[in-house]
Amino acid sequence: MPVKKPKTKKKSTNKKFVPNIVAFACNWCSYAGADTAGVNRIQHSPNFRIIRTMCSGRVTPAFILKALKLGADGVLVSGCHFGDCHYIFGNYKAVDQFEKTKELVKTLGLDEKRIRLEWISAAEGPRWAQVINEFTEQITALGPSPLNHKPKFNK
Ligand code: FES
Repeated sequence: MPVKKPKTKKKSTNKKFVPNIVAFACNWCSYAGADTAGVNRIQHSPNFRIIRTMCSGRVTPAFILKALKLGADGVLVSGCHFGDCHYIFGNYKAVDQFEKTKELVKTLGLDEKRIRLEWISAAEGPRWAQVINEFTEQITALGPSPLNHKPKFNK
């Protein structure tokens, strides 16, 4: 008499994609904006890691490319509005660097929408939440990064 194999549950393969986002936020404005969102308990998507930099101008193309290499599906760079940068021209430098990074990202065959540059002040908690939610939606629509094998920054 043949022995019946016990039924095993099939693993679900349609797991919803949750993007890993790295957000570089300048110390003086955007990081404080993220803090404002938290203090005011503004709900937003939680799937990002924030990295505080002294200025958005400090975020070189190497920072963004390394984040993508290490498993980020999207990278946000955020700093003070023009005229508010504590290093006067830091955010103008950030714009130049970001444009160069966009070209590099395209050269790598990635969609340029995987990176985003935003200006968010310390008082703009709701705007921080809105940008994070929008960017998360945008990256979710794009799907996992082709470079993303296994995120290393989650370990
Ligand atoms: S200090 Fe915030 S962008 Fe320069």
